[in-house]
Amino acid sequence: MLQFSKVGPEAYVGDLVVYLARQPGKGTPRCTNNGAVDGVIRRVHALGDFSGKEGEHLLFYPEKGRQGIPSAKRILVVGLGKDGLNRELFRKAGGTIASLAMKSKVQELLLVVPDLACDMAEMVEGLAEGLVLGAYRFKKYKTKNDPDASGEMLNQAALYAVDHKGLDKALKLGEIGAQAACQARDMANEPASHWTPAHFSKYGRQLAAAHGMTCTVLDHARLKKLGLGGILAVNQGSACPPEMVILEYAVKPSAPTLLLVGKGLTFDSGGISLKPSAGMEEMKYDMCGGAAVLCAMQAVAQAKLKGLNLVAIVPATENLPGPAALKPGDVITQYGGKTVEVVNTDAEGRLILADALAYGIKRYKPDMVIDVATLTGAVIIGLGHHRTGLLSNNDDLCDRLFAAGDRSGEPLWRLPLDPEYTKQLKSEIADFKNVGKKDGGTITAAAFLKEFIGETPWAHLDIAGTAWDFTEKSYIPKGPSGIAVRTLFDFVRNWKG
Ligand code: BES
Ligand code: ZN
Ligand code: ZN
Repeated sequence: MLQFSKVGPEAYVGDLVVYLARQPGKGTPRCTNNGAVDGVIRRVHALGDFSGKEGEHLLFYPEKGRQGIPSAKRILVVGLGKDGLNRELFRKAGGTIASLAMKSKVQELLLVVPDLACDMAEMVEGLAEGLVLGAYRFKKYKTKNDPDASGEMLNQAALYAVDHKGLDKALKLGEIGAQAACQARDMANEPASHWTPAHFSKYGRQLAAAHGMTCTVLDHARLKKLGLGGILAVNQGSACPPEMVILEYAVKPSAPTLLLVGKGLTFDSGGISLKPSAGMEEMKYDMCGGAAVLCAMQAVAQAKLKGLNLVAIVPATENLPGPAALKPGDVITQYGGKTVEVVNTDAEGRLILADALAYGIKRYKPDMVIDVATLTGAVIIGLGHHRTGLLSNNDDLCDRLFAAGDRSGEPLWRLPLDPEYTKQLKSEIADFKNVGKKDGGTITAAAFLKEFIGETPWAHLDIAGTAWDFTEKSYIPKGPSGIAVRTLFDFVRNWKG
């Protein structure tokens, strides 16, 4: 969708030319690229209608052949404000451009990259991310009768810079990360009837074939033979068999191995501990962790990153109250032999993750592990919809994740994980219960997972608050956000031993 254009704005005859303008301390904002356009900005500024503030915009329709003004059908100037020029600012500008373009039924646009005193690669990457993420819409199930169905989509966005040498890579990487996040949004938007565990394994196999990775799928029989009692127990009430998808990206034996595990609960009704019906439809999103790790693998493979070997595991199943369903009070045996008294069948995520984590660590001996899961409603109470919850046994891993999250516009916040919290999980008849008291729900969920980790550096991302209803931003349309895809991609890109 994105490329650098050889044609400059004056010669461009497409639907829209876009300029970016800083808000000056005093005086008139200027787009710094075109004197004639600056003239228009000056007039509009004098009227008090445009100051260059962040998110502000000015759209006009130039007369053909007016001296110096580009001959595109429309010209858009987007404000950048006067504060720090960081990637998030450009990402938001990209999102604003995408949504305004789509509102005007623009299919092709040319964005003139301003010459500003900042890291140009960061600027281009941010703009690329914002354009792709902001142009995302899910229209698969809209028929022609719905007015929204015919709304145009942005097909092509070209960037123009006098000298774009050295910026091609930034454009490409921004696009790869953002497209992978849009892919994760697609998976999440699908109804649970159209995104089942089998869809996860099909996608894993396709990715492996396309990028030279290895995909292994453990089916019901294999899971049983290996003793993954958590995922089997959760699956009991569903008519759809469970699948555990394992995707391997190998660069070189000397590189460290990172294990990614993503919760792939394709629908969480709560099971016998049934959830209330209001809002239950949102539980089709309970697979966003699984989507995030598969799509992060996609981005890493597309970008051909070389620093880390990766293994991604997605335990995938539904949680439904069918006739054979797991019952409160049942005792199950997780992979590795620990027993769990299932007090609440709605705390199912930790049961499937415990299996996947224990199995992945035993089988692949990773140097570090990151799991991503829509695990607890409690994280929404604690952190709302802006920061993902981070719980970990390793400070260095946390620092790297904080940095990756910051660079990606997906901030994290760490919660404690002292051994005291594990006390809530004591069971009278088994090794553990699967739930503690209500208090500190995000922490006790992570404390449960910790029992299956051992000494390996590990970080757990609770994305229940950020996987959808994420902070409103121009590049985050309503619905699933694709959270964690770009953070994980950035984590791998910036890996240095
Ligand atoms: N998938 C839910 C967590 C969730 C809740 C995600 C709301 C997004 C929004 C998870 O399986 C769950 O139901 N957790 C329970 C745990 C409780 C029973 C200890 C919860 O958070 O209520
Ligand atoms: Zn649940
Ligand atoms: Zn769940």
